Amino acid sequence: MSVTVRVPAKVNVQLAVGGARPDGFHDLANVFLAVGLYDEITVTEADELRVTCSGPDAAQVPLDLTNLAARAALALAGRRGLEAAAHIHIAKDIPVAGGMAGGSADGAGALVACDALWGTRASREELLDICAELGSDVPFSLVGGAALGTGRGERLTALEVGGTFHWVFAMAGRGLSTPAVFREFDRLGEGTRIPEPVASQDLLDALAKGDTAALAAAVSNDLQPAALSLFPELAHTLAVGRAAGAQAGLVSGSGPTTAFLARDRADAERIAEALRASGTCRSARVAVSPAPGATVV
Ligand code: C5P
Repeated sequence: MSVTVRVPAKVNVQLAVGGARPDGFHDLANVFLAVGLYDEITVTEADELRVTCSGPDAAQVPLDLTNLAARAALALAGRRGLEAAAHIHIAKDIPVAGGMAGGSADGAGALVACDALWGTRASREELLDICAELGSDVPFSLVGGAALGTGRGERLTALEVGGTFHWVFAMAGRGLSTPAVFREFDRLGEGTRIPEPVASQDLLDALAKGDTAALAAAVSNDLQPAALSLFPELAHTLAVGRAAGAQAGLVSGSGPTTAFLARDRADAERIAEALRASGTCRSARVAVSPAPGATVV
């Protein structure tokens, strides 16, 4: 028997970051929006835990116990006193180390898939609990849609989305490490007073109305200066997307994927073509928001 779960990528339309906490994490006001780029996680009965991966970026995906999909299986099995015996296959379409929660998606997907395969019938609350243990972005991969994440990003409040948003994502030639970007954020902020992170009401209203122009005016990412400091070439990608007519361009999460908001599908295709032709990115993809969370297919 096998179970397949489809899980979306995310973009942060607002990422407000507070100062470093004693535990090293940062308090966030993190507005997540799920986008229609998906990883598919298939789990099959097996004698032991094994992870495989396919897709253009597969070579960059760790197949050991650092993979969030393996850790999700171990966490669920551990709670039930079971052996985490399963073959987990990840069909990867979300950019790796891109700031689009691809690793988190695999964690949430493997958790839902193993729960179905093993008949462990975890409640939604327990699944969310395990997701929060796995990483700050993993609960959102489970729920999808749009949500405000507070705390280190794991405490979610669902948000209303009143329409479809068209995006272009430019994939960079190399990845960025999330901890390294947060460390750079700390370094750049040394000696300054960092305000409490709060969600922008204009941004929440724009999401609720499905208003692209208003959303474009309100997007923000406090990690962007840190990502640009570690990866200065991203400024060229942002300039190309904006010059091609994007309503807004920003670094997605901790980067280095850059995200561009387009008026409509045709506009998105044009911006993607300009980005590909510019040579300032590895590839460019169009996708729409919102997208559903982890779903058994
Ligand atoms: O929670 P997750 O494992 O995804 O976080 C990866 C790293 O990103 C953390 O180890 C930490 O360095 C940084 N981080 C942070 N504050 C957050 C979320 C992540 O400093 N709210």
